Amino acid sequence: MSDVFSVIDQQAGLFLAELQEFLRIPSISTLPEHQGDIQRAAEWAADKLRAAGMTDVQVFPTPGHPIVYGAWNGAPGAPTVLIYGHYDVQPVDPVSEWRSDPFSAEVSGDYILARGSSDDKGQVFANIKAVAALMQAHGGKLPVNVKFLIEGEEEIGGANLDPFILSHLDLLRCDVAIVSDTAILSLDQPAVIYGLRGLVYLELEVRGPDHDLHSGQYGGSVHNPLQALCEIVAALHHPDGSVAVEGFYDTVRPLDAAERQAMAQVPFDEADWKAQTGAPAPWGEPEYTLRERIGARPTLEVNGIVGGFTGHGSKTVLPAKGMAKISCRLVPDQDPHEIENLIRAYVAKITPPTVTSEVRALSHGHGAMVPIDSPAMQAAVRAYERGFGRKPVFTREGGSIPVVATLSRAFDIPVLLVGYGLPDDGLHGPNEHFHVQCFYRGIKTAAALLEDLATTRLK
Ligand code: BES
Ligand code: ZN
Repeated sequence: MSDVFSVIDQQAGLFLAELQEFLRIPSISTLPEHQGDIQRAAEWAADKLRAAGMTDVQVFPTPGHPIVYGAWNGAPGAPTVLIYGHYDVQPVDPVSEWRSDPFSAEVSGDYILARGSSDDKGQVFANIKAVAALMQAHGGKLPVNVKFLIEGEEEIGGANLDPFILSHLDLLRCDVAIVSDTAILSLDQPAVIYGLRGLVYLELEVRGPDHDLHSGQYGGSVHNPLQALCEIVAALHHPDGSVAVEGFYDTVRPLDAAERQAMAQVPFDEADWKAQTGAPAPWGEPEYTLRERIGARPTLEVNGIVGGFTGHGSKTVLPAKGMAKISCRLVPDQDPHEIENLIRAYVAKITPPTVTSEVRALSHGHGAMVPIDSPAMQAAVRAYERGFGRKPVFTREGGSIPVVATLSRAFDIPVLLVGYGLPDDGLHGPNEHFHVQCFYRGIKTAAALLEDLATTRLK
């Protein structure tokens, strides 16, 4: 048996080249023209699971994008660890803002630049390579049983993963799950995430006249639906930044003094925040710190507004309809379906009789809190210490990974959010990148975690 870290060091360059191959598949889940790439990415991941020594590798079709599964169950008596990741990526627009082709996956300096490099191909691939390296280091065996679950609809809040999990409970049964799809604070300051927000995604359509009208002939007599839409959207917040939807905060779990104090201990630099966002000034609920607003408070965002004439030049039109895309980040114990209903009721109430409105729901995901005092969490702490050389902090994230709640409920297990990205990796934006050292340290941390879980008494 050799030391798994030296196995990783010896093949680091090879692992990086393989990651580039993965990143060159433009598996954008939301765009139908990338259907073939989605299939290719799923098959590619399945091949890598086979190469890593997984025995029972399958690509399960779903009504949407395929789910990749692979397992190695050769350690009777040892814990079973489920490793989750996603092979789908976000669209690349605005493509003109990229320094190089988003799917050429060039390594320049310390970074690999590509859509999906950090979110989540680089991170899930770090786990695959950790398992492959452990197999080599332990003479064709692993210290724990491992199951991989790699999906293709994470970025679209897909509705096919939960039913798959609930109808394959025996196949997926596990004692602990690992999700690497989050960020640490910096290369030298790892972080275990213990809270994620949920999400409900809606469309709000406002209609007025039954067709577009001449704004001179009818303007001033018809309530312009785009104006009405903006009035409704503006009424969704109070001037202080809090959400005005009645009942929105009713089930929000309050932050207690101890947690606020603990959150305040984790470094948060407002200058970094400014540099990362480019925003002129912070905004939001004044009684909460920026970190609290991001990690522990619910929000309502307007993701986009469409309608009317937006082409070159001018057109004097009174449009028939307008639409806004709206999403809410939710905290425990807000239920995404209940929040949808509250928004529905509030929008109905504030819609004036001069227009009609309709709210359509696109996706729902629950937030999650992972207790920080479990033995599995302590294993994650030790693994980061080995992989990054520094004890991690515990922190909450503003993003959403709906499967975390699904897995912890389905199997009553701890779900370890052990991520390897950096806060400014550019997720969902132009020039997404992944630090090469995050990749290598991530592989080591993932390997260390599996070794550690083999001897951790989980219950
Ligand atoms: N990796 C992210 C989640 C994330 C982002 C965690 C930032 C921590 C920090 C994930 O791939 C993602 O973007 N999820 C979507 C989920 C949604 C579509 C249901 C999100 O948060 O918008
Ligand atoms: Zn994402």
